[in-house]
Amino acid sequence: MGGRTAASVDHMARLRVGVLISGSGTNLQALIDDCARPDAASEIALVLSNRSDAFGLTRAARAGLRSRTIDYRAHGSRGAFEQALTDALEAEGIELVCLAGFMRVLTADFVDRWRDRLINIHPSLLPAFKGLDTHARAIEAGVRFTGCTVHFVRAEVDSGPIIVQAAVPVRADDTAESLAARVLREEHRCLPLALRLIAEGRVSVAGERCLIDAAAPGGALVNPAPDAQE
Ligand code: GRF
Repeated sequence: MGGRTAASVDHMARLRVGVLISGSGTNLQALIDDCARPDAASEIALVLSNRSDAFGLTRAARAGLRSRTIDYRAHGSRGAFEQALTDALEAEGIELVCLAGFMRVLTADFVDRWRDRLINIHPSLLPAFKGLDTHARAIEAGVRFTGCTVHFVRAEVDSGPIIVQAAVPVRADDTAESLAARVLREEHRCLPLALRLIAEGRVSVAGERCLIDAAAPGGALVNPAPDAQE
């Protein structure tokens, strides 16, 4: 599968990315930092928030990025709100939309309009633990691994072709907060990696699966560790 190497990207315009946020924007910050690399294959051309008090807007301003608040309540319907999102994104020539802590559910119409150009980061190993409170539910279920997933968005919430995942061990003394913090660190690695793979043309979607031109890890992780490997 041909892909854009980092070197070839120099001669090509960077992928124009729009990032949608609702809150602190730590995933946005990870994208900002990764796009600042000289070999970055993408640039953040627009940040949209549905909340004017999202700290992510401060992060965008500090990075000199164009940003706007599009408040759901200012629009008469979900369709009008989503049309405002699309109008803002298309006005900036956005080619890929990243949902980074964006807390509104998007309709099938929006998802279809941006099909395979819309990705999301979810704090679990999908398809396990769709929905909210994923870390408390993982601890309650007694799983040995949880993690995060970057996927193309489909109409069904927290579903779609998986691009990148990270597996994070659950510790016996974990609380939802301690586990969330450990997973969040991996989110900050996975979302920029997924964006880079897409921007370099190394991801294609075949039905509901992604085909990815990238190195694959060997071996397996076991939790608890089978012996004192500390
Ligand atoms: C993250 O855990 C992300 O997985 C979820 O929202 C949380 C906050 O993200 N979707 P951010 O700090 O606003 O990027």
